[in-house]
Amino acid sequence: MVHERGSNGDPNSKQYAILEESSFQVMSSMELRGIDTPRLEWSGDCLVIGLFEDDVELSGDLAELDRKFNGVLSELIAEVEFKGKEGSTAVTRTGTLPKKVAIVGLGKADGLKLDTLRRSAAAVARLGKREKAKTLGISLPVWNSDRVQTAQTIGEGIELALHQDNRFKSDTEEKGSKLETIELLGLGGQDAALTCARQIALGVILARELVAAPANIVTPPVMAATAEAIAREYGMDIQILEQEDCEKLGMGAFLGVAKASDLPPKFIHITYRPEGTPRKRVAIVGKGLTFDSGGLNVKGAGSGIEMMKTDMGGAAATLGAAKAIGALKPDVEVHFISAVTENMISGHAMHPGDILTASNGKTIEVNNTDAEGRLTLADALVYTENLELDAIVDLATLTGACVIALGDDIAGMWTADESLANQLAQAGETAGEKFWRMPMEEKYFDGLKSGVADMKNTGPRPGGAITAALFLKQFVKETPWAHLDIAGPVWADKENGCNNAGATGFPVRTLVSWVLS
Ligand code: BES
Ligand code: MN
Ligand code: ZN
Repeated sequence: MVHERGSNGDPNSKQYAILEESSFQVMSSMELRGIDTPRLEWSGDCLVIGLFEDDVELSGDLAELDRKFNGVLSELIAEVEFKGKEGSTAVTRTGTLPKKVAIVGLGKADGLKLDTLRRSAAAVARLGKREKAKTLGISLPVWNSDRVQTAQTIGEGIELALHQDNRFKSDTEEKGSKLETIELLGLGGQDAALTCARQIALGVILARELVAAPANIVTPPVMAATAEAIAREYGMDIQILEQEDCEKLGMGAFLGVAKASDLPPKFIHITYRPEGTPRKRVAIVGKGLTFDSGGLNVKGAGSGIEMMKTDMGGAAATLGAAKAIGALKPDVEVHFISAVTENMISGHAMHPGDILTASNGKTIEVNNTDAEGRLTLADALVYTENLELDAIVDLATLTGACVIALGDDIAGMWTADESLANQLAQAGETAGEKFWRMPMEEKYFDGLKSGVADMKNTGPRPGGAITAALFLKQFVKETPWAHLDIAGPVWADKENGCNNAGATGFPVRTLVSWVLS
């Protein structure tokens, strides 16, 4: 297959082809299944038991298991003073078969959270890998008597924790044996839920790998080629609008940002259509800056400019969600949209102070070229609203101000629609991804008033994430709409739950859960 490359003849750009194979191929050789073998009878390399906090006394079949292992299980609990604290693990040899037994803490039994299972499963998968187990048996409780949701969540935790991105390392030989089979005890017959988990994980992993790959690999043409590959794989419609198409639609805001780049902008629109009449019709719109230098308001030293390859995190999650939805085939029509470009510097660059006209006719005074995401989203939102859908959700690494407000783990959510707010909150809870509703404080729009145009693109520093949301609001008239500022959670400095250090794939799981709900 021939792809349009970011820059012809660049020996570095060949590496992007790895995106199609992805590190996931390696991982998918691992088999994950549910079985109903009792804990006492399971055989394999390492058996893992989940234990609640303040309930680490071994009774019933666990007492029997302890006897079978000549007391090493109770010894282990005493020796490491195991209290069942969420995420804590311990492992020991049994002297018999299975060779090893491990315990994982689940926190308080009361109000067990779905995400606790996901995090515990992730911890257990990492333990299995560390212990070089080929076969791992995992016994965790069922959440809320819901075996389907339990199996799906545990599956996600395992698959995502085991994902390792070695695309850019030349020596990736792993030593010792690899996890071959993971069996979930008590979850026999849940193969469909585990398949669903894997399809969601594949979407999350795609998003992670797009975000983690640098800007010389993941360029706007590579984003478009990736979208095309996904659409082809799942038989979805796709339209890539080229610069001329965007010009015809009057997308002056998007194209203003794209002006200084040597790479062509790409406006991506994938459509998933179910068979029969869709239950609802929605859009997911992602900010897609493959690099954000700041433009002529260039990002200085200490600004984190070297992390600005992550500024297409919204678009990456949009494509990740498209991949998962394409595989899961729900009865919902979903549009996946992103205006993809780079924010660069050159003699063609927009100047600070330029006035741009968006595709809805509104004029924007660009008082800061580094507030570029909202310019690209303006035209993407106008385009999306013309599709006359039931709801639009945009996701964007939009502001440093949102990171200051909510930190690295929590995304900001802005919406005037209570129902959409509740749906997304519920989806986030199920997915184990955190959102905090922020105010759409209309009065703050004063900060965006311009003397020469309809609005400025940048307000004062205080409330910077709120004025960004208010700016976007000018481009959505009546469709129920929510804006998610994901600047913090797209990247993790250290391992956390099922996220490994690096790109997280946030919020693919929430988006999928929302579409399915
Ligand atoms: N892509 C950045 C936002 C960002 C900052 C994402 C840090 C991830 C980490 C965005 O385009 C930007 O530069 N925003 C400016 C806006 C300002 C000029 C109004 C910011 O947040 O400083
Ligand atoms: Mn910027
Ligand atoms: Zn940006």
